[in-house]
Amino acid sequence: MADNQDLPEATVQNILDQESLKWVFVGGKGGVGKTTCSSILSILLARVRSSVLIISTDPAHNLSDAFQQRFTKTPTLVNGFNNLYAMEVDPNVENEDVGGPEGMDSLFSELSNAIPGIDEAMSFAEMLKLVQTMDYSCIVFDTAPTGHTLRLLQFPATLEKGLAKMMSLKSKFGGLLSQMSRLFGVDDEFGEDAILGRLEGMKEVIEQVNKQFKDPDLTTFVCVCIPEFLSLYETERLVQELTKFEIDTHNIIINQVIFEDEDVESKLLKARMRMQQKYLDQFYMLYDDFHITKLPLLPEEVTGVEALKAFSHHFLSPYQPSSTRGTVEELEQRISMLKQQVSDAEAELEKLQKGKEKV
Ligand SMILES: Nc1ncnc2c1ncn2[C@@H]1O[C@H](COP(=O)(O)OP(=O)(O)O)[C@@H](O)[C@H]1O
Ligand SMILES: [Mg+2]
Repeated sequence: MADNQDLPEATVQNILDQESLKWVFVGGKGGVGKTTCSSILSILLARVRSSVLIISTDPAHNLSDAFQQRFTKTPTLVNGFNNLYAMEVDPNVENEDVGGPEGMDSLFSELSNAIPGIDEAMSFAEMLKLVQTMDYSCIVFDTAPTGHTLRLLQFPATLEKGLAKMMSLKSKFGGLLSQMSRLFGVDDEFGEDAILGRLEGMKEVIEQVNKQFKDPDLTTFVCVCIPEFLSLYETERLVQELTKFEIDTHNIIINQVIFEDEDVESKLLKARMRMQQKYLDQFYMLYDDFHITKLPLLPEEVTGVEALKAFSHHFLSPYQPSSTRGTVEELEQRISMLKQQVSDAEAELEKLQKGKEKV
């Protein structure tokens, strides 16, 4: 059996216990449960940290769906919490942001062509700069599907490259560039110097962030997946890339697991359970030094704070067989049933006592 005692604890407790942690990335293939898991992690972290911010960098934002509350690009307090904030940022830069005359746009697009991803990198850096000034004790990223996320993590390197390129151009051509931009009717305010200044202003943030992202005391990456071939394959690719970027990862969440103890009659489900078991075994074999948390596939979606909270106990205690299991909702239902029985009994007793007094 896979869950033997030599394996690291099968929960995310290690993340909650690591007090030094500042950046928690949550990533994986589309639809596996990144938003659900990052939202729950942020709720759990908010219990043990002074303030937590969850940021969605997925263009298909769904923090709003998960929490059933609208979020924007400024951090907003999540309803029902006093220290959990959420924001949704668009990683695709709006070029209008830059402002200025046409010449500036063309200079910028020139630069973007020279260094692919530089505009996106700059808006990401600007966002990080902003977030750093806000003083949250922990920041959780609900990232976009894998390819996108890895690009995001390369941004610091991209920006440094861009800066170096600008510097070398500047030293090569001296004032020629700015003369040219003036010639084309670009004000100094928006010319090459302005871009250079903006890039340089970012440099410090980039260096800082780069160092922080590579520091396992400060940063970790949580891989979310499902027990299927493509997801296993993608997880392995992700783990390898993260290792290449020197970004720490030691938690895997396997979502949508159909557990054996579910009373399954359906042939289809039984076949899927066998398939899942095959990939679960492979996950345990490949990642025996990881904290692997398994989450059950629910019959319904996980939306709204209450549903997220109810699902969160699977993050803290490994799955239990159904006989000893109960979701928070089931327990609450049982408690309210018991309360009803107690109050009925009390009413009955009162009636009896009144009857006795009369007698
Ligand atoms: N274990 C689960 N059981 C049932 N539904 C789930 C489970 N995990 C996630 N979902 C639902 O699946 C959908 C996709 O999950 P989401 O977290 O948005 O994925 P991602 O962010 O990776 O695209 C959502 O509607 C979510 O409520
Ligand atoms: Mg999502």
